[in-house]
Amino acid sequence: MECHSDSAVRMPLRSAAGVLTVPALAAPVFAPGRVAAEEVTWPVSGIVKPLPAEWFVPHDTNAEMRWEALRDADGKATIGRHVPTERFFVRNHTGTPLIDPDRWRLRLFGSGLRGAPTAEQAVEFGLADLRTLPATRIDAVIECAGNGRSYYRSQQHQSVPGTPWTLGGIGSASWRGVRLAEVLRAAGLTDGAVDLLPVGLDPDYVVGGVNYGPVRRPLPVAKALEDVLLAYEMNDEPLTPDHGAPARLVVPGWVGIASIKWVGGIEVADHPLRSPWNTDFYRMFGPDYPPGGGAPLSTQVVKSAFELAAGAVLEAGRDHRLHGRSWSGTAPVSRVEVSTDGGRSWRPAALCEEPLADNWTRWSIDWCPERPGPYELRARATDRLGGTQPERAPFNREGYLFGAVVVHPVAVV
Ligand code: MTE
Repeated sequence: MECHSDSAVRMPLRSAAGVLTVPALAAPVFAPGRVAAEEVTWPVSGIVKPLPAEWFVPHDTNAEMRWEALRDADGKATIGRHVPTERFFVRNHTGTPLIDPDRWRLRLFGSGLRGAPTAEQAVEFGLADLRTLPATRIDAVIECAGNGRSYYRSQQHQSVPGTPWTLGGIGSASWRGVRLAEVLRAAGLTDGAVDLLPVGLDPDYVVGGVNYGPVRRPLPVAKALEDVLLAYEMNDEPLTPDHGAPARLVVPGWVGIASIKWVGGIEVADHPLRSPWNTDFYRMFGPDYPPGGGAPLSTQVVKSAFELAAGAVLEAGRDHRLHGRSWSGTAPVSRVEVSTDGGRSWRPAALCEEPLADNWTRWSIDWCPERPGPYELRARATDRLGGTQPERAPFNREGYLFGAVVVHPVAVV
């Protein structure tokens, strides 16, 4: 879990007469919507796809993308705007479930639907049903709320628990599926609906002896109707197990936890909903926030990364083209500045493409370091709403939303 240092324990599920049973340390959490255990088998390992060391840094149940893998040894780009699925980062609270797409059903129920169906009388959609609804494609990044967390410690000397991501807890893909709005309307959405609770079919999240139940996080209906996708394809292929097959949410601009994978049920309610993922986790806690925590996290902050290893070695006295990417959860990027002298002076980077909302923008800048020695590179992006990267990220106890300029050391020889 993002905000706990303990590693999670995966709990196998058994289904008895349609009832979810969890052999747990603590009592199983009631999770309407996750009543589909017979469609799911559990993996032996946490992540199914291979994780070659040149592409990924493993972190417990997660795998971080290496930014330097976006270029080959000659500095040529190995990937374009989208990260190929096999190279996309993985953030799993527990492990990847294997779900039979032919038996999988999405079940919608609750007081926000016409007739207020219960979980047992849910409105159901199979994959074939979803494919009869109008299909839409969106290009968007998914980024973990904790992306960049390790810099709280290394740059700000602040201790925070959780996965020590550098900047590789992000990936951009082309997602295809049906707008969640279409599915909700087809299920009988009422004007009184305010919150949704999508529930994942992955194993219960158990940490520190507490069973928090399946991964599930309330999502306001207003956001769902605006731009959320129920995706069944990623980069023109059916979703793969690690990325949510057979269907997941893609919630543009928001912290990655909103994009629930392996979604099995969605409660639609005429009142605000709660789960540990919007009460205990994925909120800001600490001295600068109210005692109960700040509002549940939603949009991502502005960030930038170089397509270069930390500590990369560059030759003195020749031109280097530095490449990177910048992004923001609120608006397209408008400019990127780079410093090669420890933040004393800044030069504008050239944007390589038209910046898009909900996606990263690639950029480059030339640099000819004359003298050998250690150098610090910095990249600072600003978005069209004026959001920019500060020198320091405001501290929060769990180390979310590290948006400060990252110091990128290189050696010139
Ligand atoms: N959905 C479920 N069911 N279980 C999870 O562990 N992790 C969330 C989100 N959806 C998660 C989930 C988090 S924190 C992130 S950042 C994204 O999935 C990561 O998506 P990816 O693994 O496809 O990169």
